[in-house]
Amino acid sequence: MLWEGRFKKEIDSKTNDFNSSISFDKRMYKEDITGSIAHCKMLAKQGIIDKEESEKIVEELKNILSDIENNVLEIDSNAEDIHMFIESELTKRIGSTGKRLHTARSRNDQVALDIRMYLKNEIKEIIKLLKELLNVLIKKAEENTQTVMPGYTHMQRAQPITFAHHLMAYVEMFLRDIQRLEENYNRTNIMPLGSCALAGTTYNLDRNYVQDLLGFSDITKNSLDGVSDRDFAIEFLSNVSIIMMHLSRLSEEIVMWCSWEFKFIELDDAFSTGSSIMPQKKNPDITELVRGKTGRVYGNLMGILTIMKGLPLAYNKDMQEDKEFIFDSVDTVKICLVTLVPMIDTMKVLKDNMKKAALKGFINATDCADYLAKKGIPFRDAYKTTGILVAYAIDNDKTLNELSLDEYRKISDKFDKDIYEAIDLKTCVMNRNVIGGPAPEQVQKRIKEVKEILNIQNN
Ligand code: ARG
Repeated sequence: MLWEGRFKKEIDSKTNDFNSSISFDKRMYKEDITGSIAHCKMLAKQGIIDKEESEKIVEELKNILSDIENNVLEIDSNAEDIHMFIESELTKRIGSTGKRLHTARSRNDQVALDIRMYLKNEIKEIIKLLKELLNVLIKKAEENTQTVMPGYTHMQRAQPITFAHHLMAYVEMFLRDIQRLEENYNRTNIMPLGSCALAGTTYNLDRNYVQDLLGFSDITKNSLDGVSDRDFAIEFLSNVSIIMMHLSRLSEEIVMWCSWEFKFIELDDAFSTGSSIMPQKKNPDITELVRGKTGRVYGNLMGILTIMKGLPLAYNKDMQEDKEFIFDSVDTVKICLVTLVPMIDTMKVLKDNMKKAALKGFINATDCADYLAKKGIPFRDAYKTTGILVAYAIDNDKTLNELSLDEYRKISDKFDKDIYEAIDLKTCVMNRNVIGGPAPEQVQKRIKEVKEILNIQNN
């Protein structure tokens, strides 16, 4: 036991299990060792420990790292946490020299450092995966700038858009998600070591040297805050919750689009599942699971917020509970992205069915009203006239395109035969040529811009 001076007894074994975080924080072994190596080099540079001893420590820490990675060294599940495990393994191997490593450091600033290092990596990984998702969405959008489909409000067919326009809405969302993660990265990229337990240290540390060795952009400016701040993690869990919310909305649409009621898309067999009893079934399980897993990611955010809300400064053991929330959200968002990308890439777009749905539901009614308004009728009156026309068409089981010119003229003499061109779905989409609109020209322009943004970021 590391604190055997103060204590006369071994810890109770159930209490040890309860207290231990090794089962989950062992995934930070690499960050822990890398942080320790930097700390040790700094101690030697400052003359706080002997140069030779520091070299011995660094060398053995590297050995421990490679032994863990090569499965030669098993992480002891009885250790309290990964920090204690690495330190005691070091001391086991090189004796009392190993005991010098923890000079001017506490597990409180050590764990804060490790989580920041871990999250910096994972944020980058998640951004990479989001970019892969963007690439497939953009690819599908490029293939469908002319694919007319109904746009919906209240789940009622509303106005004509294209499938590309619909997908590009998600592209905007995921672009914002990347921005949020990048800002999150900047606030995570601050080095807390040197805060020690809570009150800094009397040793003459060079914190900026450790910052440079570990590739951080700055150091924390208050030792109490350095050990008790988890804002960067809360921000991360919030950002991942927003990503999952976006993935979940997309998933919900895919579930609907796969239904016989819509049949706008068909998923590849490799990304669908069957039923154990109903031979005809092909279920979009993946998207349902993404929708479901969004709940646990929200739960993780609520969990960490609740842990932090009542904590006095500085470190409290409650904070050990932060890690499972963080790890679970990292794992969940990554597996969702990894699974969705090829599923979307291989899905078949059933353009004819989208077109058929677009022909029904009077989604060109606004265009019909606009037609009258452009002929000088005030829009409100044009709206009402079109409403009468739609009611007439419903009663006669026809679409607007199927009404004869006579039927049009019975309702308003402003109608001419150019009405058919004006309410043709292609025209309706083409003419929505405002920036941000569904006209193929606009969508193509935006696709090009986004590709440039992504290219610049990749170089
Ligand atoms: N396992 C602990 C955690 O994850 C490390 C820090 C413990 N510090 C302490 N003074 N008990 O938070």
